Amino acid sequence: MSLDRCHNIRDLRAKAKRRLPAPIFHYLDGGADDEVTLRRNTEAFEDYELVPNLLNDTSTIDTKTNALGVELDWPVFLSPTGMSKLFHHTGEAAVARAAHKAGTLYSLSSLSTTSIEDVASATDGPKMFQIYVYKDRGLTKEFIERCKAAKYDAICLTIDVPVPGNRERDLVTGMTMPPKFSLGSLFSFATHPHWSLNALRNPNFDLANVSQHKGLGIADKQISPIQYLSSQIDSSMTWKDAEWIAQEWGGRFLVKGVHSAHDAIKATEIGAHGVMVSNHGGRQLDGVQACIDALPPIVEAVGDKIDVILDGGIRRGTHVIKALALGATACSIGRSYVYGLGAGGQAGVEKALNLLRTEIERDMALLGVTKISEITRDLLVKRGVSR
Ligand code: LAC
Repeated sequence: MSLDRCHNIRDLRAKAKRRLPAPIFHYLDGGADDEVTLRRNTEAFEDYELVPNLLNDTSTIDTKTNALGVELDWPVFLSPTGMSKLFHHTGEAAVARAAHKAGTLYSLSSLSTTSIEDVASATDGPKMFQIYVYKDRGLTKEFIERCKAAKYDAICLTIDVPVPGNRERDLVTGMTMPPKFSLGSLFSFATHPHWSLNALRNPNFDLANVSQHKGLGIADKQISPIQYLSSQIDSSMTWKDAEWIAQEWGGRFLVKGVHSAHDAIKATEIGAHGVMVSNHGGRQLDGVQACIDALPPIVEAVGDKIDVILDGGIRRGTHVIKALALGATACSIGRSYVYGLGAGGQAGVEKALNLLRTEIERDMALLGVTKISEITRDLLVKRGVSR
């Protein structure tokens, strides 16, 4: 199936599944434990129903909005996701270029396969860097300084990885870092020659931001990505550490992995400019609420003070519109664009972004609104609950 025949994110996922070796695809596609939260993140949108107000002049649709202090052409940006070169050898630079071309912001994961500086030279579009509190505070500080020098627009601190999530699909497929042509996965790599040849031709796969630090690269580790990550993270971190990062950075600062009004209020208290309502795509604690269900009390608590970003489960334009109607400032996507990356590199990411953007524009017209600010709470009901 060519990219032209992918009509939605589900089609891109199917194409990525065919192109990627099984351990890589399932690392992307899978979640923690029984994947209940992973499924609910998308399914829960069905519990909210839209109520159009029609015969408004919708001949011109304007999707522009402002989030994280940046003008976005439309209310969706790219969440940080790890190790993009796993999914296509062109990696983060290709994704960042696609985001800029689509008029939105790119977020770089600290677990990336392209460095902070190389992404900055690949695109001058708006960029956010994602950070953890590492055991080595010097490393955290170094990242902050490098982001200042490379003129990133924002930093987000991920707070939901004190220990690794239980990704059972990775145990089954034997997903290790770096990907290894082990006997168990050999069959899958051999039956995906396109991916495997590109991987062989582009062998300098490593965690680009840390590989120069002795012992921090992954070149010879052979552990799962999430085990690697949590071995570097300080599980004793508290809001004090978060505040320290916000102050060291001094710029626009977001807290990612917020599930409750309680933590959203804490984030505002330490000076955050926004929170990302996120459960790490259902990859950490299984059984937590879907993001769209967690959103309303967070909006109620802090929505008039800081940006509230809905980060989880978005596969359709209507999902974005429902989140905005419930008070989100904007939405961010992870898997939706990584499926595109796996399906066809930069062109696949562009396809994912264009599909979602076109859906949003069409859905706004069908809903009877012409601007993002017109997407309000009265255009949505909770299913089964009368107004
Ligand atoms: C994951 C890490 C990289 O979810 O954030 O796999």
